[in-house]
Amino acid sequence: MILGTGVDMIEVARVQKAIERNPRFVDKVFSPLEITYCEGKKNHFQHLAARFAAKEAFIKALGRGVPWTSVEVVNLPSGQPTLSVRDGKDYGFSRAHVSLTHLADHAIAVVVLER
Ligand SMILES: CC(C)(COP(=O)(O)OP(=O)(O)OC[C@H]1O[C@@H](n2cnc3c(N)ncnc32)[C@H](O)[C@@H]1OP(=O)(O)O)[C@@H](O)C(=O)NCCC(=O)NCCS
Repeated sequence: MILGTGVDMIEVARVQKAIERNPRFVDKVFSPLEITYCEGKKNHFQHLAARFAAKEAFIKALGRGVPWTSVEVVNLPSGQPTLSVRDGKDYGFSRAHVSLTHLADHAIAVVVLER
């Protein structure tokens, strides 16, 4: 059964500015795996913005706020993104689905939670 769905769109420049203003923003919001993945990409702010959108979409799907680093986006070898719980807590879902897209200006994420 579907527990919840969430969608979020964000301006890439907003995330870029937040990082440039406060370099600690990256470690506060993203996991080491997410940072390593995005730093390996040419347009890394787009990839970071997509992951920020995924965390907001996750919060919408769940119906309540959680710390930014509670979940992380991990890409399969195919490139397909997955969403994993990092903090070991039981958020009441058994499976999370995530899809990301990003252009120069905007990034979008959709999350569906099942239980
Ligand atoms: C995967 C694909 C749909 C991405 O679309 P795009 O328009 O290039 O880029 P978008 O901005 O819309 O999406 C990028 C996101 O797609 C997601 N993505 C990548 N590969 C994916 C896959 N196989 N399945 C689902 N999502 C995928 C990733 O989350 C990626 O963002 P990230 O790198 O920050 O995690 C596109 O590369 C494609 O059509 N590939 C088809 C060819 C193919 O299957 N190649 C691999 C097998 S040889």
